[in-house]
Amino acid sequence: MNSIEVLSPVMIERMRESCRIAADTLVMIGSRIRSDITTDELNSIVHEYTVARGGWPSSLNYHGFPKSVCTSVNEVICHGIPGPYKLRNGDIVNVDVTTYYPAKNGFHGDTSATFYVGKPSREAIHVVEVSRYCLELGIAAVRDGARVGDIGAAIQEYAESEGCSVVRDFVGHGIGRQYHAAPQIPHFGKQDSGRRLKAGMTFTIEPMINLGGYECDLMADGWTVKTLDRSLSAQFEHTVLVTREGCEVLTARCQPLENSEDKPWARLGRLSSPAAFTNST
Ligand code: MF3
Ligand code: CO
Ligand code: CO
Repeated sequence: MNSIEVLSPVMIERMRESCRIAADTLVMIGSRIRSDITTDELNSIVHEYTVARGGWPSSLNYHGFPKSVCTSVNEVICHGIPGPYKLRNGDIVNVDVTTYYPAKNGFHGDTSATFYVGKPSREAIHVVEVSRYCLELGIAAVRDGARVGDIGAAIQEYAESEGCSVVRDFVGHGIGRQYHAAPQIPHFGKQDSGRRLKAGMTFTIEPMINLGGYECDLMADGWTVKTLDRSLSAQFEHTVLVTREGCEVLTARCQPLENSEDKPWARLGRLSSPAAFTNST
């Protein structure tokens, strides 16, 4: 359980397939984000698309999770359950897609993004763009011989410098034939600490970044996790493969996400620092 799997080239090729479907699903669902759509409708669209691609939604019935995708709105950190809630102008929503492919003896791919519904507030732009960049910084720390703590340290240092906090209670994870495997990948920590990364390992990086404090509050449904202070929370996730040169982002997208990274403010947030952008408007 504690041992970390190093994938063979054949297994890596199969990971690329499941991750490609997950990435395509995220791009597809991004184009469907709009006010008045329910999170349950997003769930159905993801479910049907996944099955049409020959995959299966890994989250459905996972430890009893009742739906095929997680939809986490505003102060929901993660594991939001799709339902009758209608997205509203100004909301932010993370859609977390995990795909199993093929259905037998297959591999999982896990990726998520936070989308803007209509016109976001400055606060929403800040937390979303900080979390987007946190994932990029985490990915940049991955290479053969680096350590797990290098990823968390890079993310924490930047998030806190932007006045945000890093969720402690949920972390990235090894992924492959199992949805959640060793190692854990915290999005906080100290450089040059923790396990050493090795070429052939596959895991997720999925920083959950809060505008307020990092404390979590589990709702009575047993799944939905909100910020304790009800501040906004945003998250982005990729599945990565450690390589000799650095890493391969297995859930990299063929197209930019609609309602997220194609927004002019999102682009500005990446070119300068999100804080600089927020301060200049
Ligand atoms: N996809 C989530 C992750 O990134 C896990 C969701 S578990 C579920 O690890 F059961 F809520 F779907
Ligand atoms: Co994950
Ligand atoms: Co996920």
